[in-house]
Amino acid sequence: MTPEHTPPPESTKTWSGRFNEPVSELVKRYTASVFFDRRMATQDIKGSLAHARMLARQGILSEGDLADIERGMAQIAVEIARGEFQWTLDDEDVHLNIEKRLTALVGDAGKRLHTGRSRNDQVATDIRLWLREAIDHILELIEIFQRRLLDVAEAHADTPMPGFTHLQVAQPVTFGHHLLAYYEMTRRDFERFTDCRRRTNRLPLGAAALAGASYPIDRESVATELGFDEICRNSLDAVSDRDFAIEFCAASALLMTHLSRLSEEIILWMSPRVGFIDLADRFCTGSSIMPQKKNPDVPELVRGKTGRVNGHLVALLTLMKGQPLAYNKDNQEDKEPLFDTADTVIDTLTIYADMIDGIRVKPDNMRAALTQGHATATDLADYLVKKGLPFRDAHEAVALAVRAAEERGLDLSRLSLDELRAALAPVPGAAERLAEDALAAISIEGSLCARAHIGGTAPDAVRAAIARARNDLDSQKVT
Ligand code: ARG
Repeated sequence: MTPEHTPPPESTKTWSGRFNEPVSELVKRYTASVFFDRRMATQDIKGSLAHARMLARQGILSEGDLADIERGMAQIAVEIARGEFQWTLDDEDVHLNIEKRLTALVGDAGKRLHTGRSRNDQVATDIRLWLREAIDHILELIEIFQRRLLDVAEAHADTPMPGFTHLQVAQPVTFGHHLLAYYEMTRRDFERFTDCRRRTNRLPLGAAALAGASYPIDRESVATELGFDEICRNSLDAVSDRDFAIEFCAASALLMTHLSRLSEEIILWMSPRVGFIDLADRFCTGSSIMPQKKNPDVPELVRGKTGRVNGHLVALLTLMKGQPLAYNKDNQEDKEPLFDTADTVIDTLTIYADMIDGIRVKPDNMRAALTQGHATATDLADYLVKKGLPFRDAHEAVALAVRAAEERGLDLSRLSLDELRAALAPVPGAAERLAEDALAAISIEGSLCARAHIGGTAPDAVRAAIARARNDLDSQKVT
């Protein structure tokens, strides 16, 4: 949105007395941030009010001035909420726009607000307040996503599918177990955002431009009013570092990476060549030329937008790395990557929670794929080991059985006991160890049920993991 252009009389600039000539229109636009930092208007007002109240408590500002500031800010908040606030590029950022309007509304009290404060500690405070809210929203969305994921995992705690390594059929797993892997990934994401919130939730205000304020300020009371857990302990650090924003982008990049991997799987699973799932039409689009197409646009875009979030992380790291202490204007460039990261993560999680519900599993296709790659070969080797054959001999014997199955065009699990014995014969001690129960051991269900430990794919272990996860979520405190 383009801010209103009001013609700049020489005196509109906050620092104009020091300058002999006005900046060009391009420089004005180049150095301005009001286009994007007006998103922090609510936080800016909140921070200003806390600052003004502290100044009044400390006797730095009169009660009358405070009342004027509170009245003016209340009106500004209404104007902004109604979309009536006149944003102007002549005041380069959200802070100056609001302060100018405040002064227009309440006069000198507005001019006194900035006592003992700089835009440097002001902006650092605003970003932290803004990011804290974004993190809280993201934590809620992760939990919603996780609960949906657990519901689908529970519905498919018994549904066998091929587990892959190298994208080759490896061993049977259940679809529920497979989904629980993503539950674990996002559990760690939740921890990372929670942890990042701790370091975000510290108050920079009071650092002023860089060296602190020469008034008898009370930073603790400001921190309490604004809900900060701690105070930034060094004024130079408080105004200059943006590591909390970088951490947020790193946590976001990892979350997106996890969702990107899941997206890649959904795309593969719904490819007609694989056919493990169908995805609800509302997440897909057709082709403008090929009438038969149903494309998984949403998961593809999740995969694509992960690149964009990764880019923001690198942008912020690069933004920070060359800056000497303390504040430099470079830092104004932190906001767009940060906002876009939060927007992307919030939209992605919101869509994903719904998309998980939109997955329709095709169990027959999963089972069919599972009986095409000798997925229970390891189970046969394990069976022989449990009967006393050394593992390396068992491995070799089973390789022969796989070859025999291939020759017959069958899956290993479909061979009869006699066929298995014949295949294993060349390995001394192998064939005679096979008994009737070997067939159960190399069935899909036998393979699944054998892995009943914590973290295993047995349906009962999956159900126990889901119960544990739900329990964790129920007792989880968001902040
Ligand atoms: N718009 C600026 C930012 O985003 C606010 C701080 C400006 N401070 C200054 N000394 N120029 O960082």
